[in-house]
Amino acid sequence: MHFSTPTIISSLFLFSSVLAGPLGARDFDDSSNSDLDIFPSYDAYSEYAICKGKITKYRFPHLAAPTNEGGCVRYFPAVDMTGVVTMVNLFHKDGINSACDCAAACLDRPLSCTNWVFKNTFRGAAIDDNKRSCTLYSSPNLPTNVTLEYNLGMSTGFDVLDPKQNPQAGGDAPLTFLDAGLTMPDKFGVSGFMSRDTNGVQYC
Ligand SMILES: *[C@@H]1O[C@H](CO)[C@@H](O)[C@H](O)[C@H]1NC(C)=O
Repeated sequence: MHFSTPTIISSLFLFSSVLAGPLGARDFDDSSNSDLDIFPSYDAYSEYAICKGKITKYRFPHLAAPTNEGGCVRYFPAVDMTGVVTMVNLFHKDGINSACDCAAACLDRPLSCTNWVFKNTFRGAAIDDNKRSCTLYSSPNLPTNVTLEYNLGMSTGFDVLDPKQNPQAGGDAPLTFLDAGLTMPDKFGVSGFMSRDTNGVQYC
């Protein structure tokens, strides 16, 4: 790992403040500490989750959800927070009938997908049946001041990267729209994150 100067400075600061103060015991899972146990209850998960009963633990046995009913909580209604790398397009004719089918398609591809978006892409009726489609990615939207150029020769595993999207320019996350002119926001467009940890647990 390469340590930047700020990292070294903050490490030194941490080190000296540890020396200055008494050596406290490290806390282990102290759930009485409200600075540590900041998480809502399982009931709150269920209230907020989308796709309960569709993205279930039966279908995804390692899904991180409190009950078998499952569901996803890492989602952004009416916002497209996806990136540009590894673009897999799925349409109504591919079986995408809802955002839940899109999130499930991402969970089905844990080796390549970390973001999904269910939105109108205006491909024309012959392609999308004039319905919202599903695009899967392995990178998120970048913030405004960050632009990244992908070195394709040094990159592997990505499928499609539109040349117009390389370099990937940062910006505030686009909204989803009802019209190709991008004037009418679509409240039923939605995007979300998916990840899998080293224990094989899937989060969405
Ligand atoms: C973002 O970029 C602009 C233009 O280069 C610069 O003026 C500004 O300081 C940057 N802001 C941050 C927070 O990096």
